[in-house]
Amino acid sequence: MYRTHYSGQITEELNNQKIRVAGWVHEVKDLGGIKFLWIRDREGIVQVTAPKKKVSEEVFNLIPSLHNEDVVSVEGIVNFTPKARLGFELIPEKIILLSKAETPLPLDPTGKVKAELDTRLDNRFMDLRRPEIMAIFKIRSSTFRAVRDFFHNEGFVEIHTPKIIATATEGGTELFPMKYFEKDAFLAQSPQLYKQIMMASGLDRVFEIAPIFRAEEHNTTRHLNEAWSIDGEMAFIEDEDEVMKLLEHLITYAVNYVRENNEKELQTLGFELEEPKLPFRRVTYTEALEILRDLGKEISWGEDIDTEGEKLLGQYIKENYDEDLYFIYQYPSSAKPFYIMRYDNKPEISRSFDLEYRGIEITSGGQREHRYEKLKAQIAEQGLNVESFDFYLKAFRYGMPPHGGFGLGAERLIKQMLNLGNIREVMLFPRDRRRLEP
Ligand code: ATP
Ligand code: AMO
Repeated sequence: MYRTHYSGQITEELNNQKIRVAGWVHEVKDLGGIKFLWIRDREGIVQVTAPKKKVSEEVFNLIPSLHNEDVVSVEGIVNFTPKARLGFELIPEKIILLSKAETPLPLDPTGKVKAELDTRLDNRFMDLRRPEIMAIFKIRSSTFRAVRDFFHNEGFVEIHTPKIIATATEGGTELFPMKYFEKDAFLAQSPQLYKQIMMASGLDRVFEIAPIFRAEEHNTTRHLNEAWSIDGEMAFIEDEDEVMKLLEHLITYAVNYVRENNEKELQTLGFELEEPKLPFRRVTYTEALEILRDLGKEISWGEDIDTEGEKLLGQYIKENYDEDLYFIYQYPSSAKPFYIMRYDNKPEISRSFDLEYRGIEITSGGQREHRYEKLKAQIAEQGLNVESFDFYLKAFRYGMPPHGGFGLGAERLIKQMLNLGNIREVMLFPRDRRRLEP
């Protein structure tokens, strides 16, 4: 065993005991009669102190031959002393060099020499050696764990639906076409049709956490071509507000889980994550347009609220109510996909919502049209070929309960939660307009 303890597990109870640590050489210092080695693992740093009189000649001579980022395992005696940078050190008995690092390094893992995002992404394995980058992915892991916990606690069943599909759901322009033997197929933009089909199964409440693929032509700081979508769908709802309530509790649960379980990572990022205030503010689309008009931005009714509008609204809500999370709901039916239900008494308005986090959309959702004839008419109205939706429509013909749900972009959620500037920061190996490797 090359490691008995991570750096973070070394407490005073281990004083004078023999342990093994393993990791990357962070720094080497040779002061003649005493040599130092700092070793980094995923939890922090351990100082190895080698005074000539206390260690073997072999160990003493090996230390200066080590280079930054070599991988080593060190066996030694723990010594708690105020003289050490971190309050303790290891007096080495054995050092094993497990792997050498070439020089020069493609990146400076201490972060002292700043690198462009592209260089960092090209060398992601080394980028993650910086604690503040690793912290993001530990928080990402916690977020996914929290989301799963929440869904299970709320009686949702996890499902897995095809990622190779025959029909578009979120508009035809963002599809990645592919050959499926002699047929044309696409990579899934959303599990939309399948999670809805499941509402006819009696499972009642389902969720899926899986990649979605969208052929976004432009490079932006909030679009990826491969993203992770957290999808929920629930049956027997009376209105879209039931879905909004579940979603606001999901987000609150996830944010609070990170606050409680990732204190160290948040500290490393120097970020204070605020507890969300429940319930989230609900602003109708029409109200949002009025607010924007007062702020000097004109959007005509029926048009999408563009990126600038979203940002302005986010600032307005922050300044006036000190809130980061809020819903925009009751969008014009024309601005939403065919599967969204319209108000029977006001068909120009839909039972839809977006959830915004610091001025960026992180979720879309709503109540679905579950009435077969109406749904068919809405598909046709949007200029789509009704026949190609046969497999989906079939599920609405033999008993389909009222239902609704949402799609939450995991990267958008984490980016906004940590207030990061670029969505690529929260994806290990992002796929964007130019990036297919690593
Ligand atoms: P989704 O498409 O999943 O709903 P989104 O944030 O892209 O998420 P849209 O409603 O498509 O939401 O777009 C909102 C605004 O974002 C658009 O009005 C546009 O200003 C901007 N936008 C959307 N897609 C792109 C893109 N690929 N490149 C640049 N800007 C975009
Ligand atoms: P929508 O198209 O709004 O809705 O997508 C849902 C959420 O997915 C995220 N998202 C993305 N994240 C990163 N890069 C992208 N290119 C990207 N595209 C989307 C966003 C967005 O809010 N079927 C509906 C959901 C539903 O009604 O259940 C849908 O896909 O966070």
